[in-house]
Order: sequence, then C-alpha cells, then structure tokens
Amino acid sequence: MKAVRVLEYGWQLVFDEVPTPTIAADEVLVKVTSTAVNHVDLVKASGVARQVLPIDLPWIPGHEFSGVVDQIGSDVAGYAPRDAVFGATSGMGSYTEYVAVKAAVIARKPSNLSFEEAASVPVASQTAWHGIFTHGHLEKGQTILIHGGAGAVGAYAVQLASHAGANVIATASGDDEAYLKSIGASLVIDYREAKFERVLREKVDVVFDLVGGDTQKRSFLVLKEGGYLVSAVQPVSQEEATKHHVSGTMMKLAPSGDVLGRIARLLEEGTVRPDVATVYPLEEVAQAWKDIAENLPGAHGLSPRAPGAARTQSHGKIVLRVASREHDVRTRAHELYLARGAQPGRELEDWLQAARELTPNRERIDSKASTTS
Ligand SMILES: NC(=O)c1ccc[n+]([C@@H]2O[C@H](COP(=O)([O-])OP(=O)(O)OC[C@H]3O[C@@H](n4cnc5c(N)ncnc54)[C@H](OP(=O)(O)O)[C@@H]3O)[C@@H](O)[C@H]2O)c1
Repeated sequence: MKAVRVLEYGWQLVFDEVPTPTIAADEVLVKVTSTAVNHVDLVKASGVARQVLPIDLPWIPGHEFSGVVDQIGSDVAGYAPRDAVFGATSGMGSYTEYVAVKAAVIARKPSNLSFEEAASVPVASQTAWHGIFTHGHLEKGQTILIHGGAGAVGAYAVQLASHAGANVIATASGDDEAYLKSIGASLVIDYREAKFERVLREKVDVVFDLVGGDTQKRSFLVLKEGGYLVSAVQPVSQEEATKHHVSGTMMKLAPSGDVLGRIARLLEEGTVRPDVATVYPLEEVAQAWKDIAENLPGAHGLSPRAPGAARTQSHGKIVLRVASREHDVRTRAHELYLARGAQPGRELEDWLQAARELTPNRERIDSKASTTS
C-alpha cells in the first residue's frame, strides 16, 4: 500500500510502498478515506521534542482518520466489513491507505458528515472532551475560560462546554469573535488587544489552556480556589497550583471509542459542528504541512510566524483526502442506501438515487448506469 513517510528527522516527506498491516485479534483494518493534519505530526517529525514525543524512523505520520472497515480481528464484535468508521489511531500513522487500529478506540462515522469532515473530528473533539470533563470536571452552571477558543480543539471545547450548560469565555483573535459567539461563547477576549485577567470581572471554575507560556502563568490569577487548570500544551507548575489552591494538570489524549461515539451522536443531531478549512489530496501533503507550519504558535520554536503576527489561514482543520472522491461518494451512497432500508427489487435504483443526491452534477459517477436502469 501507499504511505507517506518521514525517513529522518525533519519535514521531508516521501511516498513509499509499504506492507499492508496485519491485524491483532482486538483490531480492525480500515481502508482510509481521509486523514487530518495536527500540529503534533510536524512536531514529532521535526525531532525538537524527541525526548517526550519519540518516534521510530522511518515513521508514518497521522493520528486520525475516517474510512471503511476492511477486516476485523477474531475478538472484535460490533463492527463488520464495509462499516463506515472514524477514530484516532492507536499505534501506526494514518497518512496511508490502510490503518490497523484497536476496535475499542473507533466509532461509527456520523451519517450526516462526509468522510472529509469526519476525519477532522477525532483528535480535536476528544482532546476537548477529556480536557473539560475528565480533567476539568466542568459542571452545568460553572464558568470556563478556554484559551485558543477558535482553534481546532478550542472550537469543540466551546461547543461541548456550552452544550453542558456552562458559561463559556474564550480568548482568540478578534476576527474570530462572531464565529465563537455563533458556537456558544458568551464572551470573547481578543488576546492581541487585551489581557484576559484585566477583562474578567469574576473568577472562573475551569481554565482550558491550548496556548501555554505566559497565558498559562496568568491563568492562575483568574481561577477560583478549588478550580482546575488543564493544559493540553505544557506541564502546569504544581508549585503555583498549590499556592493558588487549584489543581493543575497537563493532559495527553487517550482515545476512546465510547467518548467518540457520544461525540458522534452530538454531531448527528447538529449540536456540535465540525470545521474543515482546506482539503488537499494526500499527494499535496507537503503544502498542507506548510500551511500548518505557518499557523503554529511561535512557542513551538518551529514557526516562521512570530507570536501575535497575522495568520495566513482562518480557523478550521486541514484534511488530506487519501481515497478518490469517487470512492467517498460510493461509500456514502451505500451508507444512505442502507440507512433508508433496501426495498426488494429496487436495490440498484435506490443505491443510484443515493449516489445522485451526494454527487455534484459535474461529478456524477452513475450517468451511464442511470440511463440503462
Ligand atoms: N495534549 C494533547 O493530547 C493534545 C491533543 C491535541 C492538541 N494538542 C495541542 O493543543 C494545542 C491547540 O491545538 P489546535 O489543534 O487546536 O491548534 P490550532 O487549531 O492551531 O489553534 C490554536 C489557536 O490558538 C490561538 N492562539 C494563539 N495564541 C493565542 C493566545 N496567546 N491567546 C489565545 N489564543 C491564541 C490561535 O489563534 P490565531 O491563529 O488567531 O493566533 C488559534 O486559533 C496545540 O499546541 C496542540 O499541539 C494537544
């Protein structure tokens, strides 16, 4: 199978033929339709954080995917070949045609999402879920301050916290104020214009930190006693936490099919929305990485963009399309056809109808077949 690999530390990406993975008894083999780019892909490849984020070279990047189940391990129940699924990886990278993944960390793809949208969800949404609920213990009626609210993780945190009945305050660029208010923030503080600790009138119960550095340090000033400071970016000073009588945790995503399934239901009912900025074919992965690098916060030490300088891309994830668009449409048509229930004797017609509804006019894949049916 084809895969993108990093052969030595750096951002040089090569296309290689590699063996299709075999699966363990508790795994499924997924034919990947789309994957998405995360900062951590670039950080790991660069080697700057090799002490804490080691990789074995050559390395296939990628931590999330959407696709179709191809094979199931002997101990796997609940999935069958052709099921449309999505998830964060549990070992191997996802910039590839097939991924072997533990069945316990995947979930069924929400039927209202395209494969491209679905691939953008698993890492950011689960990081947000665990950050605010598992580690932040956020409850209805509490106030949460989310730093980096318009980013991939932040936007899920805003939506999930708001859905849980919390009062949501976010820091972000001023340009993102309307977007953040539309997804549930009650107050947006422009981090380029104001210091959040000077704007906030009352202390908050939870801070979810997606920025780090000085932003994290100043967060102790706005937390109530007994509150939680959760960072997805860097360790939290335990000395400062004790001094301010709060809990401080740095979290690391532990993917869970159960949590992703709950997020899938929120996506299906429209409570939570995905945000895809750009879709590139896998062959253009180098450009996708360039886009991400330009938007990495300067704190990573990798970015050509200084902290606070204007970004080149608005909010939203960058997705890589691995399978052809035709494969995507055919698979979604099959899902829609199954969801509606096949009417005996009308299978082909129903399938084609589903495909027609999902395919823009110029891309119709069934024009030949439909004239003969
Ligand atoms: N620990 C884990 O398991 C885990 C999992 C996923 C992600 N992460 C980490 O979480 C961080 C966020 O990830 P992401 O995918 O959401 O990144 P992202 O999409 O690039 O979002 C980062 C956001 O932070 C904003 N920002 C930058 N400086 C800020 C500041 N001083 N105050 C407030 N907002 C600021 C940016 O706005 P502008 O572009 O307008 O500056 C951008 O909207 C990354 O460092 C990532 O590596 C950790």
